[in-house]
Amino acid sequence: MTMKLKGKNFLKLADFTPDEINYLLELSGELKKKKMIGEKHKSMKGKNIALIFEKTSTRTRNAFIVSAMDEGAHSEFLGKEEIQLGKKESVKDTARILGRMFDGIAYRGYSQEAIEELGEYAGVPVWNALTDEYHPTQVLADLLTIKEKKGYLKGIKLAFLGDGRNNMANSLLVGGAKMGMEVRIVAPKELFPEEKVVKLATEIAEETGGNIVLTDDIDQGVKDVDFIYTDVWVSMGEEEKFEERINLLEDYTVDMEMIKKAKPDVMFMHCLPAFHNQETDIGKEVFERYGLDHMEVSEEVFESKYSIVFDQAENRVYTIRAVMVATIL
Ligand code: CP
Ligand code: NVA
Repeated sequence: MTMKLKGKNFLKLADFTPDEINYLLELSGELKKKKMIGEKHKSMKGKNIALIFEKTSTRTRNAFIVSAMDEGAHSEFLGKEEIQLGKKESVKDTARILGRMFDGIAYRGYSQEAIEELGEYAGVPVWNALTDEYHPTQVLADLLTIKEKKGYLKGIKLAFLGDGRNNMANSLLVGGAKMGMEVRIVAPKELFPEEKVVKLATEIAEETGGNIVLTDDIDQGVKDVDFIYTDVWVSMGEEEKFEERINLLEDYTVDMEMIKKAKPDVMFMHCLPAFHNQETDIGKEVFERYGLDHMEVSEEVFESKYSIVFDQAENRVYTIRAVMVATIL
């Protein structure tokens, strides 16, 4: 299967057809196989990639760096303090400058509007490395992981527990709907996704045979699901909300009791990083202030046979690689 994706931005999954997403998943699988057998595939030789990161990152940043290097491209990391963007230069001007220097731009930031503007003016492909609204490269890796585990996507039932309004919930709703999956957002009503995202995902699901469910009932939400997914309760940029979110979400922690309510072969997913113990500064602080020794997932589930979180993390490399290879001019 070939697809005309050269020059196209990768800003959100809503911009791609199910066939295009399938193509990117197939390409990811091929690139993964090539890497495993040590076959060199320098399809981006001589290209220069800019990585603008206004928020911190371990997986996404390094998936771009390793992929660029493996494909023969050079990548330049541009952290928040290192470029003029925001303080002295607008998104539109930055796009027109970097677009004349680089062959592709990855951007992690706050508003989706900013990345859409970057994509409009850069003249080279722009890839969304996470915004407040969407995290499409993560969900592409999640879809690849689900496909590797189950062999198919259509009809898969996935429950997302936690902040139903965050970038992961939004991207899972849209990405899952595109692939004909049933995506359930299991969250207190206060944290149900925004109406416009529900409408978009529902319309997509109607076309693909997928299904979108919102519920605050945990038992109903996880009944018969193939995958239980969660994410941090407080996303980057809203750090003042810990107390409010702990109060709202304490019952939505993924623990063994919850795992037992799903299908017997259910798998646990998380985009990471995860608060599953006290081995981080924030983990310790939350324990001291609120007495919780984990937040969204228990240590027992995180370290259990149900957990496929590191397979997801590994697949970030190959899906990001596929996005770059498919779109770079
Ligand atoms: N899942 C994810 O995007 O991780 P990073 O924030 O470490 O990139
Ligand atoms: N919702 C999280 C995802 C991190 C990969 C955040 O935006 O911080």
